[in-house]
Amino acid sequence: MESREMTACGMHKDGKAYPSESRRQYEYIDRLRDIFGSMYGDASGGRGQGTFSVVTFGCQMNARDSEKLSGILEGAGLREVEDELSADVVIFNTCTIRENANEHLYGRLGRLKPVKKKRPDMIIAICGCMMQEKDEVEKISEKYPYVDIMFGTHNLYTFAELLYDLLMKRGGQQILPDSHGQDILLRDGRRAMISVWKDTPDIVEELPNKRKFPFKQGVNISFGCNNFCSYCIVPYVRGREKSREKKDILEEIRKLGRDGVKEIMLLGQNVNSYGKDLSEPVSFAELLRETDSLCDDMGIERIRFMTSHPKDLSDELIEAMASGKHVMKQFHLPLQSGSDRILKMMNRHYDSEAYLIKAEKLRKAMPDISISTDIIVGFPGETEEDFEATLDVVRRMRYDAAYTFIYSEREGTPAAAFPDKVPEEIIKERFGRLLELQNSIAAENCSRLKGRVLPVLFEEINEKDASLISGRLENNSLVHVKGDPSLIGNIRNVRLLEAHGFYYTGELTD
Ligand code: SAH
Ligand code: SF4
Ligand code: F3S
Repeated sequence: MESREMTACGMHKDGKAYPSESRRQYEYIDRLRDIFGSMYGDASGGRGQGTFSVVTFGCQMNARDSEKLSGILEGAGLREVEDELSADVVIFNTCTIRENANEHLYGRLGRLKPVKKKRPDMIIAICGCMMQEKDEVEKISEKYPYVDIMFGTHNLYTFAELLYDLLMKRGGQQILPDSHGQDILLRDGRRAMISVWKDTPDIVEELPNKRKFPFKQGVNISFGCNNFCSYCIVPYVRGREKSREKKDILEEIRKLGRDGVKEIMLLGQNVNSYGKDLSEPVSFAELLRETDSLCDDMGIERIRFMTSHPKDLSDELIEAMASGKHVMKQFHLPLQSGSDRILKMMNRHYDSEAYLIKAEKLRKAMPDISISTDIIVGFPGETEEDFEATLDVVRRMRYDAAYTFIYSEREGTPAAAFPDKVPEEIIKERFGRLLELQNSIAAENCSRLKGRVLPVLFEEINEKDASLISGRLENNSLVHVKGDPSLIGNIRNVRLLEAHGFYYTGELTD
């Protein structure tokens, strides 16, 4: 791969630290604004304005990163458009959790080939988890030579710098002496810049941000993962776990409160282990308690968090959740498998009994809690008996929602080398049985709330029927109500008239 390991961010080549890496990046954004202004005109110039589109695959972490990318491009004077085919700058923020995530990217990239041919000035960038995989970067370099920039998860914040350096190098001009772009290869003829870092110890705060929803916002609390579940690629593409300083998190939440945000979601691959790596360690429960009281002061009504590893679910956290005034009584507790043998092979560090005991504690402390999960079907060596054990836990847990996945082999993970791969037909058959069981449980659970009057935070106009506005209950279930868009961003009481398996239709009562 023609990428380089680079100096850590915020450092001069001579090792001197910048006063602030984010300030440095804002300078690049200003330079881009001048360049794009002269290329496309700006909003005030009457000649139109350059446009961008950010296409996001994957999890909440990527969605949050995409807001930062959009913030950078908007700061650079471009306007966001939905359709990537018409944009001047397109960026794909990729996921590689399962093979089909990679296939999605290739489908979308293929569609851009004729567009780029017609408009060679269009800039196509790819970032995110897939870029941390050497083979994928090589494949794109060879088969999709019209891609202009590739960068990874660890140097997302250098996007403005990379874009500026690309434009400078293309114009035959010098880049700045301290630029990361010094190390970047511009392959003339193919004109691509690749900058993928293996990892970085740094967290760069205060990057630009274009918030997708005015009333709700994800807040990163940690990055990366140390768990190395044997099937999972995340620790390899997102690096070791790094927690943000508590004061930075709380300051961000305070600002969101001032902006009128109603709901925040604390984000991390494993929020339960938050803070262990800080110089002054803080537990997630402690962070949650402080967040709860801050939200009370700031008028933020709802706090959610994603994702939790069962092994790190502590009594202290259950207590903090139960006593939290604004903490939603909703818990995503990925099971992965109900078989102790498979859980061991997955390196999950709990067995089904320990899992069920923790779930029981959650329900005891919060009887109305809604619990959801992730399950993988067809892990190498999974027998009928193992699968039955999973069904058994599902029956006992009675999840409100389960995200079920067919095992996907990820190169470089330990499980990729495990023997006894399960044949596809068997996996499909098991997957169907699991889905059927879970759907019937979810439908029964859903019907329990029928007739109740509960608060809903309204989020958007229904995609299929514009007379409906969709929102979420405290337990995160979806509700559709006849109403007008002025409801969006508000919390109102709704009578749940009908339960439809995993969503409700209802009417406003106030
Ligand atoms: N950090 C989170 C989840 C990240 S990935 C957690 O541990 O809960 C989201 C889900 O994708 C995982 O919970 C798992 O169920 C699924 N997943 C991860 N790797 C997979 C693979 N190789 N094949 C199939 N599903 C996978
Ligand atoms: Fe992957 Fe396991 Fe980390 Fe979740 S906890 S991101 S499944 S390695
Ligand atoms: Fe995918 Fe990366 Fe998230 S692999 S699931 S986008 S952390």
